[in-house]
Amino acid sequence: MNEYLKNVFQWNEDMRAFLESENIEESNELWDKLDHMTAIMETIDHSMGDKEIEEIHEKVEELHGEMEQYFNHRLSLGQIYVNEVSVQAGKHELPPLPYGYNALEPYISEEIMRLHHDKHHKSYVDGLNKAEKELEKARNSGDFSLVKHWSRELAFNGSGHYLHTIFWGNMSPQGGGEPTGELKKEIVKYFGSFEAFKKHFTEAAKQVEGSGWTILVWSPRARHLEVLQSEKHQNLTQWDTIPLLVLDVWEHAYYLQYKNDKGAYIDSWWNIVNWDNVSRRFQKAHEMKWQPF
Ligand SMILES: [Fe+2]
Repeated sequence: MNEYLKNVFQWNEDMRAFLESENIEESNELWDKLDHMTAIMETIDHSMGDKEIEEIHEKVEELHGEMEQYFNHRLSLGQIYVNEVSVQAGKHELPPLPYGYNALEPYISEEIMRLHHDKHHKSYVDGLNKAEKELEKARNSGDFSLVKHWSRELAFNGSGHYLHTIFWGNMSPQGGGEPTGELKKEIVKYFGSFEAFKKHFTEAAKQVEGSGWTILVWSPRARHLEVLQSEKHQNLTQWDTIPLLVLDVWEHAYYLQYKNDKGAYIDSWWNIVNWDNVSRRFQKAHEMKWQPF
């Protein structure tokens, strides 16, 4: 396949991934165009003469153009065409593994993958759904007597679900090696070299106590990468979420003025919330989208 066709093929795949990530409905004509293009691509074989390939070039070029036009037109209408799929309270689902249960062998056995995904991850999903429904009930009834318990469950199971969802995607039977592009640059910039990063990450992982994770994060504030340990993932609330509005309820935040009346501090704090700031944070955070589960 020549360079041009390779690029078109790649573009076609990227487009599919994009439509999927944006949850474009199956009935959308964009899918038909992509399917048509895929069908054409599949007719290509190495025994074809220049003339036949030339004809395919033309068809592909035409479709490519149509799709881009369609897409640019839609883009100019803003985000309206995109289904803003969100997960309702209690409606999380166990994401399917992006590969077979035995695909990571010999590094991770099929038996582990089945247990880990079908049992452990599933129980986080169930626990998260339960916590969300219970908190929804509390909001409806106004009875928050168990808010502490359900918030802990929300954090524990939410982190478990989100982190495992990232974890499955972080691995691949075709994985290994080193990153490239921007990520590689950032790693070298902050850690000095890929080897230095790998050593740091490995040591942090080996020294996590108990049930935990090692996590490479991007800090939008520092604009650099960092390696963190999460000894108990629930202690850091839900990983894979972005803080929008925070209230410091450490004693140092109110004791001099409110003494032990933490409640009065919290009630009066609402008078000074800067909603413009929270909205700006929300707008930025809202731009980041992963496939919902
Ligand atoms: Fe796990």
